[in-house]
Amino acid sequence: MTAHRLCVAPMMDWTDRHCRFYLRQISARAFLYTEMITTGALLHGDVERHLAFSREEHPVAAQLGGSEPQDLAHCARLVQEYGYDEVNLNCGCPSERVQKGAFGACLMAEPELVADCVRAMKERLSIPVTVKHRTGIDRGEAYDFLARFVDTVARAGCSTFIVHARNAVLKGLSPKENREIPPLKYEYVHRLKRDFPQLEIVSNGGITSRPQIDAQLAQVDGVMLGRAAYHDSWILADPGKSRAQVVQAMAEYAAHLPSLRYVARHMLGLYHGHPRARLWRRMLSDPARLSQNDPRLLLEALDAVESGPKEIPHERRPQAQEFQAGP
Ligand SMILES: Cc1cc2nc3c(=O)[nH]c(=O)nc-3n(C[C@H](O)[C@H](O)[C@H](O)COP(=O)(O)O)c2cc1C
Repeated sequence: MTAHRLCVAPMMDWTDRHCRFYLRQISARAFLYTEMITTGALLHGDVERHLAFSREEHPVAAQLGGSEPQDLAHCARLVQEYGYDEVNLNCGCPSERVQKGAFGACLMAEPELVADCVRAMKERLSIPVTVKHRTGIDRGEAYDFLARFVDTVARAGCSTFIVHARNAVLKGLSPKENREIPPLKYEYVHRLKRDFPQLEIVSNGGITSRPQIDAQLAQVDGVMLGRAAYHDSWILADPGKSRAQVVQAMAEYAAHLPSLRYVARHMLGLYHGHPRARLWRRMLSDPARLSQNDPRLLLEALDAVESGPKEIPHERRPQAQEFQAGP
């Protein structure tokens, strides 16, 4: 089984250390990624704030954004010293702000530069360097463009490629639209695995269910889940885990934090699809209760959801056909 069989995507404002600690309670094995951290933020900003994390989060990778090989090498070294398991280079982000810094998805047009970045980082590191990218940029449909990118970067020593199976449209689409509008091209990702069997290929984009995970794993080495892992985190759950165990661990963790909001905001989706999901969300987002900063709110919400009065919200009342689906 490869290290990247199940991964949670880097997501700005979402996969902070508290979110990662929470996801780790749900899955002991999922490979977790930080939000993107730019080289500028580490060179000129508060390194401790960007890189500090809890040991319990392992395995965890830090994702860097940048395109200057020596800056990346310096920052990757910091990442290694902080104890991360991997450095990931962002070659998939389409935001305008990132394009001005000439990194993210526009790097796909410069495979030699990405190779230089990977080489410079690898010279300073003992942990692996991986790359996250798209299937192409703008309207480019050529599989050869993607294959040449991967081939060039692999020659520099990268052996794991995480492919968001959509093109990035650099002009005219917002980052959010860029996660929804360009069509999914899983066949390109699967073909990469066939053409480069020695590389570890991880498929990302639009994967939201266990059957979809299994379908991808039949073709590639791993899957990376983004929005589904955040909004419906139980999809990651290890067999035998209970939500109660997760909530109890988070209540203990939250007792050491300055604000309960740091964790409560990430936990809203824990009961996604459950008959009392709404009650859970309502309790965890109650401003008056949150401002009291008392982690027992998590336990009270757990109690209310797991054993409270059996009132089922209207929109989740079982439909007649759910009962008719007999053998
Ligand atoms: C809120 C949000 C923030 C994101 N931030 C990053 C980021 O920092 N770095 C990155 O490579 N991708 C980022 N992405 C893209 C995801 O990593 C992932 O590639 C994308 O959401 C597609 O996967 P999904 O369909 O499973 O969500 C972000 C996505 C979301 C929803």
